[in-house]
Amino acid sequence: MAKRTIVALPGDGIGKVVLEETIRVLDAAGFKADYVEGDIGWEFWKTEGNPLPQRTLDLLEKHKIALFGAITSKPKDAAFAELSPKLQEKGLVYSSPIVGLRQHFGLDICMRPCRSYKGNPLNFIKRGIGDEIIEPMVDVVIFRQNTEGLYGGVEWSNPPEKVYEALMTHPKFVKNFSKTPKEELSVSTRIFTKKATERILRAAFEHAKKYGYKSVTVCEKPNVIRETSGMMYKMAQEIQKSDYPEIELWNTNIDAQMMWLTKNPDNYGVIVAGNMFGDIVSDGFAGLIGGLGFACSAQFNPDSGIGVFEPTHGSAPKYADFDVSIVNPIAMVESACMMLDFIDENEIATKIRKAVAKVIAEGKVQTYDMAKMSGKADVIEKGAASTQEMADAIIQSLK
Ligand code: IPM
Ligand code: MN
Repeated sequence: MAKRTIVALPGDGIGKVVLEETIRVLDAAGFKADYVEGDIGWEFWKTEGNPLPQRTLDLLEKHKIALFGAITSKPKDAAFAELSPKLQEKGLVYSSPIVGLRQHFGLDICMRPCRSYKGNPLNFIKRGIGDEIIEPMVDVVIFRQNTEGLYGGVEWSNPPEKVYEALMTHPKFVKNFSKTPKEELSVSTRIFTKKATERILRAAFEHAKKYGYKSVTVCEKPNVIRETSGMMYKMAQEIQKSDYPEIELWNTNIDAQMMWLTKNPDNYGVIVAGNMFGDIVSDGFAGLIGGLGFACSAQFNPDSGIGVFEPTHGSAPKYADFDVSIVNPIAMVESACMMLDFIDENEIATKIRKAVAKVIAEGKVQTYDMAKMSGKADVIEKGAASTQEMADAIIQSLK
């Protein structure tokens, strides 16, 4: 089979090390690929005023598949302060390059599986009757609409006159906001399109059908956010009725869902949500299966075949400069397995997943988070595995 080219986008901070170690695991598992590195992240913001240079977009357009490490994001003013002085006059505004990638390539389907590994000391446990301790095994896949909603970027502070006039045509705006001076208003829109809503819903139902999940839960807030959440739930009802009658359709509100997380997390199967609520609910479930060291994701556009695979953790700058890296690479390794699934290399993906499961179940090699230490440089002396040692253990288990 022809060798693939994968775009490696290490990004910032610990993104670099988890990506490097993951590529080592991929090689050892027999995945044949060339890697080309793409520039992305804070360094390019500071020096070029653009954290997502055009040359990186071109690379991805060409090779279609990227592994992405992590990115540093800072609020507007802090970002401006770090910009090289000659760029500061240009009126540049920092925006997250990962959100930029999603928008540019229409990577509208975001998939975030949250599955408990047997023997993971970080698995969520709860109290039963008396002294009973229950460890629910979570097996949830979150489908997050990845390009619209609150992430659409249509927002203003002190909105332009025409926008203000349009808002004034809404009776609720007149009643609740017209006494506030325009200069004191900030507006972020939440726009849903039928097309994108249908795509994420169908992706969710299709996944449930293919992998035998009994339910699809729409996790939104249709009782309050009637237009957008309401539309998503209504469309889900129609799609379920016409095409997936064998799958149950559940409807939860995001707030209640977060409360139920610890009550009955093993009840849920596939969950589908808009952009912001999908962001929230996926972090919530990730917390139950070990946190950010275990949270992987895929984001892709099924039409173009472009996909970006990334752990959902940040760049953790405070860990980036340790002599020996201590962070858990499993989320990145798992994200790479999602990439392998996407390009039909399922056998290698299964092999790696089995190796990861074995290392976790044996419990001999644990990064500091798994060993429940606080993240300091001395964790290695105290017996925690380094990032490299965890990757080595996974590689050993492949055999
Ligand atoms: C995620 C992250 C991003 C998001 C940030 C880094 C912009 O939290 O991928 O979940 O909000 O989508
Ligand atoms: Mn997030």
